[in-house]
Amino acid sequence: MLGGAPTDQLMHIKVCAPPGSPNARMNKPLLVLTTALFLGGCAAPPSGPAMSLRGIMRDMGRDAAAVADGLMREDYALVERAALKVAEHPQPVPEERVRIITWLGPRAGRFRGYDQEVHGHGQALAAAARQRQPKAALEAFHKLQSACMACHLEFRQPYLTQFYGS
Ligand code: HEC
Repeated sequence: MLGGAPTDQLMHIKVCAPPGSPNARMNKPLLVLTTALFLGGCAAPPSGPAMSLRGIMRDMGRDAAAVADGLMREDYALVERAALKVAEHPQPVPEERVRIITWLGPRAGRFRGYDQEVHGHGQALAAAARQRQPKAALEAFHKLQSACMACHLEFRQPYLTQFYGS
């Protein structure tokens, strides 16, 4: 989901001065101003509006549930449709992608890797459903869910703490 973030966007990120850095030691009005910038540009408001990733995730949750339902009913058209939606889920808006990638830093590759797994297993699942192969579909679904879980276990709580303060 973060795969397409162009590097030129990454270069325009505001650099945040750590509180103890030389830039932080300046006269009072300036300090107030930089503090405001620091809070506004870098730290997340604890209860601001939800970022777009949440809605994307909710849709993925619904689509994954539809896959499970479709498998039980042997409704392969439904499985294929829902699996393709999961595989081709939208990305967060560019501004958020930059914030997320910046926060992830060196972990961005792992985060992206889980997302690519979701994409690949979602495609495999859709293909298995198209060919009406329940066993292959179930296997792909299992791998898909494992990728969801792996990312959640590693990143979800830290993400919520970072961007929602909770
Ligand atoms: C690359 C990492 C990553 C992958 C892969 C991933 N998620 Fe998430 N997911 C997150 C993060 C981060 C959150 C927290 C977002 C938030 O609450 O704003 C989240 C939150 C959620 C939520 C809770 C949303 C809410 O209303 O609080 C659901 C449901 C969800 N994901 C479903 C899925 C499903 C289903 C998959 C796999 C098909 C999946 N996710 C794959 C990172 C990921």
